[in-house]
Amino acid sequence: TEGGSEEAKRRAGERAARAVEDGTVVGLGTGSTTAYAIRAIGRAVDEGLEVRGVPTSFQSRQLALEVGIPVTELDAVEGIDLAIDGADQIANGDGAGRGTLVKGGGGAHAREKLVGATADRFVVVADPSKFADQLEHPVPLEVLPDAHTVVADDVRELSGEPTLRDAAAKDGPVVTDNGNLVLDCDFGPISDPEELAADLALIPGVVEHGLFVGLVDAVYVGTDDDVEVREY
Ligand code: A5P
Repeated sequence: TEGGSEEAKRRAGERAARAVEDGTVVGLGTGSTTAYAIRAIGRAVDEGLEVRGVPTSFQSRQLALEVGIPVTELDAVEGIDLAIDGADQIANGDGAGRGTLVKGGGGAHAREKLVGATADRFVVVADPSKFADQLEHPVPLEVLPDAHTVVADDVRELSGEPTLRDAAAKDGPVVTDNGNLVLDCDFGPISDPEELAADLALIPGVVEHGLFVGLVDAVYVGTDDDVEVREY
C-alpha cells in the first residue's frame, strides 16, 4: 500500500501484537500493517503463547496458518478479546467523526467490521499517513453482485461517485471473499460520517459499507522510531 514507511508499519503492528494475552482469542485484520502484527503473534506462539485467531480475510487466514497461529471461526468462539486491524483513513478531528475509519481497501471490511465490533477491544494499527482532519477517502461498499447498478444509482442520490472495483490481474471486477462486488464511492470530504454511515446502511443490496463509526478503542501509530498510542 502507498503511504507510510515499512518501519512505521512494523513498529505499530509489533506493538499491537504485544497486547495479545495468553489464553485469548484475537481478531486478525487485513493489510500490510496488520501483517506485521500477525507475524509477531506467530513468533510469540512459537515461544509458547496460547492464542486462537479469528481471521478477517483469506489473506489474513493464509498468513496466520503460515506463521503457526491456530485459526478458528467467529461462531466457534465465545467472543473476541482483542481485534487488531489496519485502516485506509482515520479521522483525527475532535468533532463527531473523531476516530471514525474508512476501511475496505482490501475488500474485507464486512468481516473486519464484524470482528472489530465483536471484540472487547479493537486496536487499529497505522502510520501517520492514514490520518486526516476530515475523511475523504472513497468509501467501499460490498454489494450483492446483481445489485451493483441499483446501488450505484442510490449512491449518486447521496451525491457520491461510485466506481466498480476492478481486479488488476483479471478481466473483470474484484470478487470479495463472500462472493460479492465492491463499489468505491467518492463522496468528497465527509462532514458527517455518522449520518453517511446510516444512509449507506439503508441501501438495499449493500452487504456492508466501509465507514467504521464508534468502533475503535485505540490507534497505534507507528513512526520510524516510536509508537504513539491514541485511545478513543
Ligand atoms: C482491508 O479491507 C482494509 O480495511 C485494510 O485494513 C487497509 O487497507 C489497511 O491496509 P494497510 O495496512 O496495508 O495500509
